[in-house]
Amino acid sequence: MANQSFAKSVMKKTTLGVIIGVLLVVIAQQTHFPPVFQIMFFLYAMLGALVFILLDAPAMKRLEGLKALGALLVFYLLLSGLYIAGASILPQFDPEDEKGKIEKVLKLRRAQTELGKADELIARAKELDERAKAISKQLSSLGADAKVEVAATTSAGGAASGDIVALGKDQWELQECYNCHKLYGQGGKKRGPEMDNIGNLMTVDQLKEKILYPKSWKAEGFDKDYDKGKMPDKYKDLMFPQEIDALVAFLASLKDESVKTPKPIKMN
Ligand code: HEC
Repeated sequence: MANQSFAKSVMKKTTLGVIIGVLLVVIAQQTHFPPVFQIMFFLYAMLGALVFILLDAPAMKRLEGLKALGALLVFYLLLSGLYIAGASILPQFDPEDEKGKIEKVLKLRRAQTELGKADELIARAKELDERAKAISKQLSSLGADAKVEVAATTSAGGAASGDIVALGKDQWELQECYNCHKLYGQGGKKRGPEMDNIGNLMTVDQLKEKILYPKSWKAEGFDKDYDKGKMPDKYKDLMFPQEIDALVAFLASLKDESVKTPKPIKMN
C-alpha cells in the first residue's frame, strides 16, 4: 500500500517536473537564453522533482556508528561524482578562445598605428617630391637640363584598404552582428535582414549612421523590429571610430546581388 502510493507520487512529481522543465525551456527560448542554459534549466527542474520525490520516499533503516559514516561518505562521493561528470559534459570556458578575441582587437589597434606610420611616410614622400620639383624648376630656370624625379610610394594606401576590410570582418564577428544578421548563409538566428548585398544599397556614410544611430534607417519590411528597437543602440559606446570605419568598409564590400537584402529607408 505504502509502495503503491509512493509509485503514484513518483509519477505525479516526475510529470510535474517535466511540465515545469518544458515551461522553463520555452521561457528561456523566448528570452534568448543560449541552448546550454535551456538544458540547465530543464535539468534543474528535474533535480527539483527528484528532491520532492526523495522527501516522500519510505524511510530507510536507521544506520548507526561506522556504518552511518560510511553511508554518508558514499552518498557524498556519489553526488560529487554526478555533479562533476554532469558539469564536464557541458561546454567549457576556453581561455584560448578569449585570447583569440583579444588578439583580434589588438590587431586592429596595431594596424591602425601602422597605418598612421604609412600616412606619415606618404606625407614625407610628398614633401620631398615638392622640394625636388622646386629644385628642378630652379635648375631649369638656371638653364641646366637637369631633371629630378622622385617617386612617392602610394601603394601602401592600396594594401591598407584590403587589410581594413579584413579587420572589419573581425569586427563583424567580435560585435556579434551575426546573431541577428545572416551573412554568407550563416548566422541570423534572431532574424534581422540578410547582409550580403548591403554594399549595393548603402554608402559608407549611411552605413556608419545606421550603426551609430540604428533609428536613422529602417530596413524595408522590418517595421515591427524597427519600432521595437531590436537593433542595439550601443555600438557608438562600444566601438572605437577606427573599428567602426573598418566594419563599414567591410559592409560596403558586400555586393552579392543574388541575396535580397531589404531596402534601407531613411528615417528622420
Ligand atoms: C539584436 C539584433 C541585431 C544586432 C545584434 C544587430 N542588428 Fe542590425 N538590424 C537588426 C534589425 C532587426 C534590423 C532591421 C530593422 C531596422 O532597420 O532597424 C537591422 C538593420 C540593420 C541594417 C540595415 C539593413 C537594411 O537592409 O536596411 C544594417 C546595415 C545593420 N543592421 C547593421 C548591423 C551591424 C553592422 C551590426 C553589428 C555591429 C548589427 N546590425 C547588429 C537587428 C540587429
